Amino acid sequence: MKQLKIETLLEVYDNISKLPQDIQSLMDKAIDARNNAYAPYSNFNVGAAILLDNTEVVIGNNQENASYPSGLCAERTAIYYAGAKYPKAKILKMALTASSQNKVTDKPIPPCGACRQAIAEYEIKQEQPIEIYFMGAEGKVVKSNSLANLLPLLFESSVL
Ligand code: THU
Repeated sequence: MKQLKIETLLEVYDNISKLPQDIQSLMDKAIDARNNAYAPYSNFNVGAAILLDNTEVVIGNNQENASYPSGLCAERTAIYYAGAKYPKAKILKMALTASSQNKVTDKPIPPCGACRQAIAEYEIKQEQPIEIYFMGAEGKVVKSNSLANLLPLLFESSVL
């Protein structure tokens, strides 16, 4: 038997003002998107902003539904829209933020597993890492240099 150790290196910024200027402005767009989320059932708003290599920024937020599983997370709303509108563009950076109407969200809130798998598809397709920054409504911001850091042992098409 052998053991397999998986390590991830992330960077942590104390708050949004410590981020490089371009990421602050991407995060501001994610915050705007978060404020427009349609989340009447969970009262948990999530916003995403994606910077593409054609300089366009695509945003998304969570869209809920009375039939709960029919709703979609912010990250997938944004990345599927980016894929639909700019199919040839590469995704450079993603900024994510979440806030709850029920509690303080002052810790970084990472994307859910399903969204990580969805983002992985694009990272593998474009053969270039996607930088991911995530935060709550305030406080620390975590940076990952690639989606792969957030989803070790991901499921990929080479096994099909
Ligand atoms: N949500 C996201 O938008 N992204 C995630 O990564 C996790 C959860 C949304 C889905 C649902 O509308 C609400 O947050 C509560 O789960």
